[in-house]
Amino acid sequence: MKITKICCIGAGYVGGPTMAIIAQKCPQIQVTVVDLNAERIADWNDEDVNNIPIYEPGLSQVVAEARGRNLFFSTEVDKAIDEAQIIFISVNTPTKTYGKGKGMAADLKYIELCARQIAKIAKDNKIVVEKSTLPVRTAEAIKSILDNTGNGVQFQILSNPEFLAEGTAVEDLLHPDRILIGGDETAEGQKAIQALVDVYSNWVAPEKILTTNVWSSELSKLTANAFLAQRISSINALSELCEKTGANINEVAKAIGMDSRIGPKFLKASVGFGGSCFQKDILNLVYIAKSYGLNEVADYWEQVIIMNDHQKKRFSNGIVQTLYNTVADKKIAFLGWAFKKDTNDTRESAAIYVANDLIGEQAKIAVYDPKVSHKKVLADLDYLETRSSKKNEEGVQSFENPYEACKDVHAIAILTEWDEFAQYDWQKIYNGMQKPAFVFDGRNILNASELKKIGFIYQGIGA
Ligand code: NAD
Ligand code: UGA
Repeated sequence: MKITKICCIGAGYVGGPTMAIIAQKCPQIQVTVVDLNAERIADWNDEDVNNIPIYEPGLSQVVAEARGRNLFFSTEVDKAIDEAQIIFISVNTPTKTYGKGKGMAADLKYIELCARQIAKIAKDNKIVVEKSTLPVRTAEAIKSILDNTGNGVQFQILSNPEFLAEGTAVEDLLHPDRILIGGDETAEGQKAIQALVDVYSNWVAPEKILTTNVWSSELSKLTANAFLAQRISSINALSELCEKTGANINEVAKAIGMDSRIGPKFLKASVGFGGSCFQKDILNLVYIAKSYGLNEVADYWEQVIIMNDHQKKRFSNGIVQTLYNTVADKKIAFLGWAFKKDTNDTRESAAIYVANDLIGEQAKIAVYDPKVSHKKVLADLDYLETRSSKKNEEGVQSFENPYEACKDVHAIAILTEWDEFAQYDWQKIYNGMQKPAFVFDGRNILNASELKKIGFIYQGIGA
């Protein structure tokens, strides 16, 4: 089947960048990204490409090249579904906040809404692609909804999980380690797989395109995220042991990472992992294991989350303890609020939890993040529902300038590994601070010995 029209439901962190790259690499295909959120769509269509709603290095250039040519952003969901041969579902699948599986299971209500909408609108055969991260066997539920519409349309459901990381989305999409496509083993299923393989083949080498059955593909996505997060919790667990024993976690990570069986990546000790997916996907995995009665499997993976929560708590407790067991009315600067560098995404960022703890201790937080607005900082704190918005507003301020944020503070905490933080004039920062001047480097990105020479009391992670 020759694909000429693709639609993607969900113009978020995955749908937007993924479709922009497909459009850039496949000028012969018309790609329409739709979303219910009219403000988000308006931002994607902003005349100035620098105002698109997602900050990713290189993304605005890709959008500038393809938008209006064969890349379109729209709120007309029905029209886009009707016209497309392939429909990607790339909506959010957050952890359920109500009912059965609350706090663990993935909330599939947005997925089901998409399936019902496709079922209602489709008048000819469609390939429906699960781009969102989903519990294993979700395709079965989608198929059941689509097959029961009675309008005679044939649907093929593929699983094509996304492995991009934020901050490097464009690079990851242009040069993926692999593209995974799961589909039915029937002849129609294989034809659908081939249609999607052909799309990716416009820029991805054939040996990097892996095809499997649907369930393997769905489960591989949860498994990949669980393994990645597990490495961070493993190194973070050992960072605490380093602090007790005189070992240095950076040296340990280097030493073990040189073993080619372990490898050097994803061994950076930190204040804890954040982001919208690791926690949600592991909780989902734990829930699935429990639902099959696999309690040991569930407990094994849950430990990754327990360790991560411990690491965030340990960081805020460490600040309070070091500042003579009280931070009441003390000003503490936060450098970074995003969950990692090079993104404006703050979902599940460790900064939110650390700030929440410290505001609970009556500290005043002064935030500087190059890409995060004060509105977002407040919304993140309000979302935790620990205290009133008014109290959060009293507890946190944001600054456009890092030197202003660090003025008169008792301590500075590094929450995100933005490159610029290491380039600052730390002598100037030191001069403007209360003394003794403390730095808590939750990312181990600053030069500890230089800071100590200036006069800072420096604490990193795992040393
Ligand atoms: P997101 O919240 O940024 O975007 C989802 C979008 O879907 C929102 O704009 C929302 O308005 C829209 N939406 C929801 N229901 C809709 C409907 N019925 N019709 C039209 N639009 C609808 O989410 P995201 O970060 O892009 O994640 C999407 C999925 O991709 C999740 O399952 C996530 O686990 C997975 N994933 C995310 C990343 C990442 O880096 N963020 C990476 C890989 C996979
Ligand atoms: C992660 C995966 O890396 C992607 O492959 C996956 O597609 C995505 O989740 C998803 O499914 O959403 P992302 O969360 O965007 O991507 O970013 P990561 O680079 O994985 O970082 C996650 C968190 O772990 C960040 O808070 C980061 O600072 C932290 N981290 C990462 C560490 O603390 N140490 C490390 O060594 C690596």
